[in-house]
Order: sequence, then C-alpha cells, then structure tokens
Amino acid sequence: MTLPILQLRAVGKSYGTVRVLKGVDLDVKRGEIVSLIGPSGSGKTTLLRCINFLEAYDEGEVWIKGQLLGYHSKGRTPQDRDSEAVIAEVRRPVSMVFQQFNLWPHMTVLGNVAAPLVLAKKINKTEAHRLAGLALERVGLAAKVDAYPAQLSGGQQQRVGIARALAIEPEVMLLDEPTSALDPELVEEVLSVIRELAHEGMTMVMVTHEMSFAAKISDHVVFMEAGRIVEAGPPARLFGKSATPRIQQFLKPWLDRSLSI
Ligand SMILES: Nc1ncnc2c1ncn2[C@@H]1O[C@H](COP(=O)(O)OP(=O)(O)O)[C@@H](O)[C@H]1O
Ligand SMILES: [Mg+2]
Repeated sequence: MTLPILQLRAVGKSYGTVRVLKGVDLDVKRGEIVSLIGPSGSGKTTLLRCINFLEAYDEGEVWIKGQLLGYHSKGRTPQDRDSEAVIAEVRRPVSMVFQQFNLWPHMTVLGNVAAPLVLAKKINKTEAHRLAGLALERVGLAAKVDAYPAQLSGGQQQRVGIARALAIEPEVMLLDEPTSALDPELVEEVLSVIRELAHEGMTMVMVTHEMSFAAKISDHVVFMEAGRIVEAGPPARLFGKSATPRIQQFLKPWLDRSLSI
C-alpha cells in the first residue's frame, strides 16, 4: 500500500483558551479530491492553514509524504518547532489558494505568480517568469500577464491565485472556498479550472459551499462541526439519505434551493 500524501493524526489547535480543532484525523491519498464542508466557524480554514503550517498546530501530527510537519520532537511549543528552512522543505509539495485571492495590487499578474518562486523557492527571475507564464496558460490567462489585479474580474483574479499556487508545481493543493468571494456568474470559470486540475490528477483538499460541485468532483467529503470531523465518506453517502441527521439538516437549505423554481 502506498503512503498517503497527507496524514493528520489527532490534530488540535487552540487560540488562547479556545480549542478550535479538537483532534482531527484525515488521510489523503495521491490523486484524491477531498471536500471539506460544514458550518461557518467549524474550523475548516484553520485546518487547511495547519496542513500548510501557516498556523502552528499544537496537538497531534501532520505528516506530508511521510515527513512530520513543523516539529522535531514530541512537544508542540514554539521551542519544539523545526527551523523555517526545514518547515519550508517539508511543506514544499503543498500550495494554497485563498478565498480572498491575496494578490499584490502593485504587481502585474505575471509578477504575482512569479514572486513566490523568486522569494520562497529562490528561482532566478527569468526562470520564474517562464514558469509563471506556463502556469497562467494553464488557467487560460496567458493574455493577461501584464495586467494588474484591479483590471481583472474576480474570476480572473482567482484564476491568477490558482496559477500562483500551481507555479510551484505542488503535489497537493489546498483551496479555501475558492469561489465564495465571487459574483455568481464568475463561479463557473473558476470551477472549470479546478475540474481540469482534478482530471489531470492533482491531489486537492478543498473547502467549499458549492455542494453540487463537491458531490460530482470529490472522492471523499468531510463534514466538520465545532472543530471535529462529524462524518467522512464518499459523496453518495454524505449527500444521500443515509447521512446523519445533522448533515441532512446542514444540507437542507441547499437541497431546498436546488429543487425550488
Ligand atoms: N487568528 C484567530 N484568532 C482567534 N480565533 C480564531 C482565529 N482564526 C479563527 N479563529 C476562530 O476559530 C474558529 C474556527 O474558525 P475557521 O477555521 O475560520 O472556521 P471556518 O473556516 O470553518 O469558518 C472560529 O471560532 C474563529 O472565530
Ligand atoms: Mg473558513
């Protein structure tokens, strides 16, 4: 059996005295698409940020390709942390797409995609621009390399966000509600880019409220509430009649909406 690309074991995270992740276990195999759903405040964003060590988890273990992320001992205090260089190396296969795009307004589209390659990956500028151009082609934005973010639609800005995440040649992409900041008519162009990546075999963990999309694209759906995984399984089960009453209640507004004329 091949090792899962991501392994979470009893992952916990507190902000002060508030424990927002309460022991999360999750395995993601190469090529799998996992959708995280659940009410606002349930810890979905925090979980993605811990998988990338944008937040330091303080209980349990996150393993990326068999390497423990963030810590070199059993302790979970700042003193137990790995150096930034080691953390960067362990999380190298992982990249993140943010809900609010997080583009730099003063940089061109090409600059936005190339910057992490230069800053974090220490790739020279010429090569970074070449890789950025290729990533922008993949999301259909080759014509916009010289534009600034403000000159783009929200959908185009998020496709730049995806290109930036792709440019580092990740093996796992984490997407945090990639379409929830978009006007409804701009959602589909972003979903179609994500669908394309899925078909190409990209491993993805995606927080989403696009339930139809999640139902179609996911290998596993994970329902979180109050910092815990309530249920995880194939979409046919979580979106079907055998799901727990809590999930059915959570999904009801969406089912009602999709049936109404
Ligand atoms: N930086 C932070 N400081 C303090 N509390 C936070 C911080 N980030 C998130 N939280 C809290 O953690 C809980 C989970 O938040 P979040 O992971 O953003 O949930 P979700 O993405 O599911 O809406 C919420 O109660 C939120 O208020
Ligand atoms: Mg969130």
